[in-house]
Amino acid sequence: EIVPVILSGGSGTRLWPLSRAQYPKQFVHGLNGQPAALLSATLARVAAEDFSAPLVVCNNAHRFLVREQAAEAGATLDEVVLEPSARNTAPAIAVAALMTAARNPAAVLVVLPSDHLIEDTNAFRHAVRRAANIAKTGSLVLFGIEPTGPHTGYGYIKKGKAADKDRSDAFEVEAFVEKPDPATAERYMDDGGYLWNSGIFVFKAESFLAELARHEPAVLDAARQALGKASRDLGFLRLDAEAFAKAPNISVDYAVMERTDKAVVLPLATSWSDLGSWASLWDAAPRDENGNFVHGDAFVEDTTDCYIRSEKALVSTIGVKDLVIVETQDALLIADKSRSQEVATIVAKLKASG
Ligand code: GDD
Ligand code: MG
Repeated sequence: EIVPVILSGGSGTRLWPLSRAQYPKQFVHGLNGQPAALLSATLARVAAEDFSAPLVVCNNAHRFLVREQAAEAGATLDEVVLEPSARNTAPAIAVAALMTAARNPAAVLVVLPSDHLIEDTNAFRHAVRRAANIAKTGSLVLFGIEPTGPHTGYGYIKKGKAADKDRSDAFEVEAFVEKPDPATAERYMDDGGYLWNSGIFVFKAESFLAELARHEPAVLDAARQALGKASRDLGFLRLDAEAFAKAPNISVDYAVMERTDKAVVLPLATSWSDLGSWASLWDAAPRDENGNFVHGDAFVEDTTDCYIRSEKALVSTIGVKDLVIVETQDALLIADKSRSQEVATIVAKLKASG
């Protein structure tokens, strides 16, 4: 059995002002010039006969947005797991693994972020099935992406030797480094032996739980308690707030992937983008002959390689390049495209200043 687990609890602050706390990027329609929102595209990607109904883990505040997206994708959901607070991806995956293992200890999970663009659905499902076969032996399977630059927002995987002779395209993970600093990322690019972590993981529920118990037991304890005291209503599973709040706030990359010796990497042979920042959206978007992505009402002259999105005003530019200009009902962002990772910092400062 392959059980898709969809992580939809991020707030997407790097895509401010389009992505908001009450309405994060995975629910936004038309984000990358395509009509579907990223969550419904993710749900559609795993709607295959040999995959079980997906388990979505999201924040309590977004439960109806998730239902809406499922309806749009025509997807049947398993229970929707509601987090009373955001504790990052390790606790979310722990809860999903505990729920699945209780039902079927041999089940294989495929953990999917909800902010990815993967166009070739068939190739993707094929890759998941291959990974699931490898995972049956107890490995935690990561999908690797051929890096295109020293991006600091990704995990880096150092490819080791072939995982075994029959699977020449799967490699042992010699090292995993989450979000390296710029100098380290440069070094990895020069070295050439590294892949980006796609953020999609395939493993048996019990293999993951065993590694979590070994490397970050506090997450496992809190997840178990929160699940033990959870309540159910109308297809929602509400985790216990007090117990869940005790989970360390840590991503699965730091909690498990950097520390485990059970990881295996399978290069993902399909186009993939993480639509995490304005620069990556620009990268993945259809652009005009001057390299501009324009959505909404805009008049541009002598403008190149810009990402421009307007919701209500006419946006007009003259003689600029490499800018991000995003205008919404109540906010306007103008940023140097190469610094779009820093939008999250602005949002944090805005929040702090009330
Ligand atoms: N349920 C839940 N709860 N989901 C969460 C939470 C949470 O508290 N926090 C984040 N998520 C979801 C996000 O919505 C997203 O779909 C996914 O988990 C990954 O979180 P991101 O915050 O987008 O992670 P990232 O992009 O910085 O880094 C991860 O993905 C990269 C590739 O896209 C890491 O796995 C990197 O190693 C990887 O390279
Ligand atoms: Mg991401």
